[in-house]
Amino acid sequence: MVALNKYPRRAILRGALLGAAGTASGAVLSACTDPPTADPAPASAPPVTEPRGAPASSSARNGTVLLAYFSRAGENYFNGGRKWLSVGNTEVVAGMISRLIGCDVHPIEAADPYPGDYESTVARNVEEQNANARPGIANSLASIDRYDTILLGSPIWNVRAPMIMTTFVDGFDFAGKTIHPLTTYAMSGLGNTVRDYAASCPGAMLGQGLAVRGEEVADAEPAVDAWLRRIGLLTRSA
Ligand SMILES: Cc1cc2nc3c(=O)[nH]c(=O)nc-3n(C[C@H](O)[C@H](O)[C@H](O)COP(=O)(O)O)c2cc1C
Repeated sequence: MVALNKYPRRAILRGALLGAAGTASGAVLSACTDPPTADPAPASAPPVTEPRGAPASSSARNGTVLLAYFSRAGENYFNGGRKWLSVGNTEVVAGMISRLIGCDVHPIEAADPYPGDYESTVARNVEEQNANARPGIANSLASIDRYDTILLGSPIWNVRAPMIMTTFVDGFDFAGKTIHPLTTYAMSGLGNTVRDYAASCPGAMLGQGLAVRGEEVADAEPAVDAWLRRIGLLTRSA
């Protein structure tokens, strides 16, 4: 675990944007030409629409754990082609975490929802990254004061978390809290999330993250379970 000191936040963010926009990863991902395919077996994440109270769990700490995530259903990258996802990949993993540890869950919703179309979303994201934008959140969370551990979940968009994640973290003081990044991705793993959350959340501790390939989320529960154990949020025996 790494203690994060105060970074020259705006300078780092601006540098990240200049470095990330239009990178090879983004270009490759936006250049897919295969037609979208239907998702024949929609992932079985529970409808996670409101922050939840913590149900019975093996970990006494889970009432102080928040999972805040952004996920976009619709046409997405899938093994070099496209696939229509009825539930976003990150939401599938969020559902697993919620079931395993019973933490509070806050799905971050865009005030201006992202298109279902993949290319349009890529284009909008590049604009938002280039502008260092803070896309609005439809369902703001009042406070994170009661939480000491916060899991920040998102897809990777052009090697970073979507800018709406920066909107979210900008709204709170994370000093003294522990952050664990969670991403789903095609090629970029955690991307620049560790660097960016470090810059945006001065005084936070940045713990181990988890990156799950978007194409493999349906089978990710063992990896999610193991990660939750490694970071001390799941202690009961299987
Ligand atoms: C606009 C956009 C940009 C993306 N850029 C990347 C990228 O740079 N690297 C990567 O590994 N995956 C990238 N992807 C793929 C997503 O990260 C991946 O499909 C993820 O699992 C989607 O999660 P979601 O369904 O929860 O939104 C991109 C997808 C979109 C829609």
